[in-house]
This record gives sequence, C-alpha cells and structure tokens, in this order.
Amino acid sequence: MSETNNFKIIGNVEDFPEFPAHVKLNNQPYYIVEAPRKADEEQRYNLISAICPHAGGIVRPHLNELICPLHYWCFDKATGESTNIPGEQLDCSPLVVRDGQFLLQA
Ligand code: FES
Repeated sequence: MSETNNFKIIGNVEDFPEFPAHVKLNNQPYYIVEAPRKADEEQRYNLISAICPHAGGIVRPHLNELICPLHYWCFDKATGESTNIPGEQLDCSPLVVRDGQFLLQA
C-alpha cells in the first residue's frame, strides 16, 4: 500500500476478481466489497473492516453477509450494517477507482 495525493492505493482492480476480497491495511483485515447501486449506475466499491464491533472477532463472508463466528453478529456484505443487531455497523468507507486502482481517501 502506498499514498498519492491524499489517497492510499489499496491495489489493482484486476488483482481482485471476486468480492468480498480480503485485504490487509496496516496489518488489519478488511474486505473490498461491491457497494449497493441502481441498475443504471456504475459499480462502486466499499472497504469494510473485518473486525467485529462487538468484541473484535474477524467476520467472514457467507452468502450475502459477513458473519462473526464468535457470537454470530451478522452484517450486510455491501454496506457493513448489521442485519441482526440494530444500529451496529462494521467500519465502512467508499473506495475510488482511478486508473485501474482502488484508492481510499486518506
Ligand atoms: S465478537 Fe463478533 S459477535 Fe461477538
């Protein structure tokens, strides 16, 4: 990972053929996921932390969710919003795609 003009380069888009795609930033686990969009919009992407906000478990993809194996909090895999614990959320930031790279605003 490197930085350019207030953006951190997360990686080359072509290196991630499937989503959620596991990545590590600053030695912390994340997923690149496809963000919700309307049919006529370009695909957008989010960077979601894999660390559960309950007690620090590492969430894992399962069907349309990211699920924590410790106490089974479940999160929407596109937005990080919990699907079974109201108001809870995995950290989620939008990614920018530019010149074939995923960028995160620093
Ligand atoms: S640490 Fe994830 S549900 Fe408890």
